[in-house]
Amino acid sequence: MKIIAYGIRDDEQPYLEQWSKDQGIEVKAVKELLDESTVDLAKGYDGAVVYQQKPYTAAVLDKLAANGVTNLSLRNVGVDNVDADAVKRNGFKVTNVPAYSPEAIAEFTVTELMRLLRRTPTFDRKQANGDLRWAPDIADELNSMTVGVVATGRIGRAAMKIYQGFGAKVIAYDVFHNPELEKQGIYVDTMDELYAQADVISLHAPATKDNEKMINDDAFSKMKDGVWLLNPARGALVDTDALIRALDSGKVAGAALDVYEDEVGIFNTDFGSFDAIPDERLKNLMKRENVLVSPHIAFYTKTAVKNMVQFALNNNKQLIESGKADNVVKF
Ligand code: COI
Repeated sequence: MKIIAYGIRDDEQPYLEQWSKDQGIEVKAVKELLDESTVDLAKGYDGAVVYQQKPYTAAVLDKLAANGVTNLSLRNVGVDNVDADAVKRNGFKVTNVPAYSPEAIAEFTVTELMRLLRRTPTFDRKQANGDLRWAPDIADELNSMTVGVVATGRIGRAAMKIYQGFGAKVIAYDVFHNPELEKQGIYVDTMDELYAQADVISLHAPATKDNEKMINDDAFSKMKDGVWLLNPARGALVDTDALIRALDSGKVAGAALDVYEDEVGIFNTDFGSFDAIPDERLKNLMKRENVLVSPHIAFYTKTAVKNMVQFALNNNKQLIESGKADNVVKF
């Protein structure tokens, strides 16, 4: 059995080598991402393990299949960048890693919320300038707030536990109801109800055709004045222009964005200086002290990276051996 792993970063390499040694299976690790220029590297392999934010286009998937590789294992959870038609047409079996560490994302999300509520970016700036005064940067307390969690999958549920640990009231919206949460009476019936009640909105939904830019002008108009918005999920969920308007008007008190609708090719890149970042809208957000932009790092912990690599390799091995795997994605 031979597996090729695309886009392997230095921080992933030791976990890949450990798996390969433990399993006695050859894994060819390449730094390049899977695209039309690198797809031929997969010739002769039984399966490919991949992670990238740029799209898995029809052209790439058609070529991969023509190279005889249809066992494709993603090291991440989101599948919104995979061309579903090409998957079906070529008979791909695709796996993802649905739970490499929901806690990693949940912990980061709440960390960012606490930084916003306690105004730590402002105090950090003031202190760096020798200003040790308190006013006017008085903080808010999470324990007296209502947090509206959008989507109660693994990450949403992990975040809920932390919010509840702080003493916040948690409400949630999801099309699919988790039976345990249902018993606790956590769910509201509509997003409008969530918007009307929540002081903090914590987004944990995957990106789908139906929820693109769900957080738009109309949604903001239904939210409480001074709401806090957290998006560690997918940039496509938020209409960035509408968010900027809502920040300008004060409708939104602050936002923590670990994702951004145009992040591909921008996040996880060193531009050398702030000015060189080639996205004015992103820089507009980054300049605001009540907006925390981070480059899609909520997932980026040692535990998560290890699990992403090793669970994806396990999935790929299962596909190659039996055509089945624990985490096959339905397209
Ligand atoms: C995902 O797992 O889908 C993520 O969004 C994290 C990614 C940067 C690996």
